[in-house]
Amino acid sequence: MERSLVFIKPDAMQRGLAGEIISRLESKGLKIVAMKMLRMDKALAQRHYAVHKDKPFFNELVDFVTSGPVIVMVLQDDDAVKVIRQTMGETDPAKALPGTIRGDFGGDVSHNLIHGSDSVENAGSEIALFFSAKEIVDPFIEF
Ligand code: RTP
Ligand code: MG
Repeated sequence: MERSLVFIKPDAMQRGLAGEIISRLESKGLKIVAMKMLRMDKALAQRHYAVHKDKPFFNELVDFVTSGPVIVMVLQDDDAVKVIRQTMGETDPAKALPGTIRGDFGGDVSHNLIHGSDSVENAGSEIALFFSAKEIVDPFIEF
């Protein structure tokens, strides 16, 4: 079982796409094991996107993800990181294939609706930035 950190970005929240995006991920078989809504402060956004700190788009990226609320989740499944990245589509919605979240709902490279961890290693550190161990709940309940 693999886990990934996903968040629904402020543009998708503002456009009312949160339910649709969560639905697509659940339909694909990913299990929600943690979820909350919050507005990131600058420090958290800078830590989350620290690998991009020297890129020309870094300040714009931090301003955007702190511009409104996000719904942040931990999703779990076999191969979760790869499956989520495929479901999201390419970073630039103009290049993302139809059938993917970014391909179907558009936007632009700076407003691309969803974040998903790009590796298992980064997923681990991103999850720890947003959630304590106690906030992650085993989904396999016995009724
Ligand atoms: P994310 O981290 O948000 O899931 O997106 P990603 O992996 O598909 O893309 P990444 O390379 O990690 O870039 C992070 C975010 O930076 C913005 N970006 N802008 N103007 C540009 O050329 C450019 N390149 C990247 C995007 O909003 C991207 O989601
Ligand atoms: Mg990324």
